[in-house]
Amino acid sequence: MTQDQLKQAVARAAIEYIKPKLFNDAIIGVGTGSTANFFIDYLGEIKNQFAGAVASSDASAARLKKLGIDVLDCNSVSELVVYVDGADESNAYLHLIKGGGAALTREKIVRAVSKEFVCIADESKWVDVLGKFPLPVEVIPMARSYVARELVKLGGTPVYRDGVVTDNGNVILDVYNLQIIDPVGLETRVNQITGVVTNGLFAVQAADVLLLGTKEGVKTLFPS
Ligand code: 5RP
Repeated sequence: MTQDQLKQAVARAAIEYIKPKLFNDAIIGVGTGSTANFFIDYLGEIKNQFAGAVASSDASAARLKKLGIDVLDCNSVSELVVYVDGADESNAYLHLIKGGGAALTREKIVRAVSKEFVCIADESKWVDVLGKFPLPVEVIPMARSYVARELVKLGGTPVYRDGVVTDNGNVILDVYNLQIIDPVGLETRVNQITGVVTNGLFAVQAADVLLLGTKEGVKTLFPS
């Protein structure tokens, strides 16, 4: 099976997983990236079973609208029934690294508003220790150099993601060479650096369930 086929399989599994949770007025959270895109496409098939979605990026919002799915402003919603999104890495606690697609801040907001976070990923994303994938950090442009120096002090090697501006008008530093033994501690520490909007660790609020696409089939994993 190719990586894309594994992504399609978990996107399909996510549809089956969320179906029993949907009702007429339900609003769901929808993420960003190639796995989330497969999910959005399948979501079109059941669009009459819920009221609408809050998207974690302008790109996902456009894809949802194209399928005739209502996209709502997050401020008009008190709770999302469920949030479905991909990840760049997951460990056994379902602590994640996200933000490969630069949508980490809106993803964190959608996650915070959601009752349940269903992560969908192919098996290449499964790791023992987070950090091989560089940790994305969204930064206010004026603070870029200062934040980079602070990240070096934490042992990382930050690299400016050239030419990328987030949907919020900010820049991304990708931090290499981190062996993230304490994801909750590092997430909290990095977010304390002045000028950081947020970082791509989802450990303080991890995923609730991971649908992991493997060659043996989709595994449903809960935090250990
Ligand atoms: C976007 C994300 C994505 O979920 C993550 O990068 C995974 O992407 P893909 O499904 O394309 O592998 O966090 O900011």
